[in-house]
Amino acid sequence: MEENSQEELVEAQSQIWRWTFSHLISMSIKCAIHLRIPDAVHQHGEPAASLSQLISALRIPPSKTHAFRCMMRVLSTRSTGFFSVQQEEEGEELCYSLTPASRLLLRHAPLNQASLPLLHFHPAVRDYCSVLDTWLLEENRTAFEVVNGASFWDYLAGSSGPARELKGLFYDAMVSDSNLVVNALVVPTVGGRESLLFRGVRSFVDVAGGTGIVAAAVAGAFPEMKCVVLDLPHVVEGLPAAGGHPGNLEFVGGDMFRSVPSADAVLLKSILHNWDDESCVKILKCCKAAVSGDGDQRVYNMIVIDMVMSEVGSDDDDLSREIQLCFDLMMATLLNGKERNEMEWKGLFEEAGFSNYKIVGKIGPRSIIEVYP
Ligand SMILES: C[S@@+](CC[C@H](N)C(=O)[O-])C[C@H]1O[C@@H](n2cnc3c(N)ncnc32)[C@H](O)[C@@H]1O
Repeated sequence: MEENSQEELVEAQSQIWRWTFSHLISMSIKCAIHLRIPDAVHQHGEPAASLSQLISALRIPPSKTHAFRCMMRVLSTRSTGFFSVQQEEEGEELCYSLTPASRLLLRHAPLNQASLPLLHFHPAVRDYCSVLDTWLLEENRTAFEVVNGASFWDYLAGSSGPARELKGLFYDAMVSDSNLVVNALVVPTVGGRESLLFRGVRSFVDVAGGTGIVAAAVAGAFPEMKCVVLDLPHVVEGLPAAGGHPGNLEFVGGDMFRSVPSADAVLLKSILHNWDDESCVKILKCCKAAVSGDGDQRVYNMIVIDMVMSEVGSDDDDLSREIQLCFDLMMATLLNGKERNEMEWKGLFEEAGFSNYKIVGKIGPRSIIEVYP
């Protein structure tokens, strides 16, 4: 066996410690969301909130002040980056201010992103991570099924208290992500809102579009466009809720594996990574039938928003790549899905009968792909 130097051994031990304790960081984020630490920093943070102000605002008992200080430190390192910490003079109290990440966790932030972490700390999701070793050695079931006795989608359709709670968190997480993505897709212009993706499109279907955030933004930006959200019947039941939705938006309960309403353009945002290749080809064939048009010369297309896994040595930064790898593992364990590299995407599009595709943009670690029938 190769001998390590003492220095290498100590470094290796640190690496094991770092990743062993990383769940304490995730759990500190959960704690910060539940206790509304970002809101406390925001309320007292002009320009920064002192530790004692936070302790008093959050009613941390004296016996826990040291633990609270530890947690704030963990959330304020260069790599976690949830708060920035200042100390005017040596010996003075530490003061904390918000960073872009903690601003997204403020309770009333328009683009609040707290529901995704909370979804992942829900017992039904959190607990499957502890059975990965037994799950990996058995056939077929997802780790989620091993722990919860049902597939993720079947579990969400259930009526038990935990299922309803998980469903609420899941669709809230989709809403907050979609709110952020809409910002990138439909941009404000002098004359209103615009998106190159939708120029000239008369009708649009958001396939498995959840509660319709993206479709509502598109419908609002393009009042002449007929917009449809297709999702499972129990998801779109009762939608559109009273008021708030544009009149050119319709919700349809259905199954994307059976058929997709015809339109000039269809969107698949964060859908295909949920499924294995065989299922994806079935969904894509339904989408291809939906955008095949009536033989005129218009441009019909499908828009896919999902990750295109970067290759080792690509220009993508380490954070993007790390997120892609974690999503890939999450999709494999939660849903039997996967993230795909460009060759894998190309293979799926070809197998479903599409003629060509083009990666037209990026939103963080995700890509926007136009696919042509
Ligand atoms: C990861 S979510 C993405 C939702 C939405 N596109 C977004 O990005 O916010 C996956 C969606 O697929 C829907 N879904 C699952 N199976 C479906 C099916 N057979 N037909 C239609 N929608 C389905 C779920 O209800 C959920 O809304």
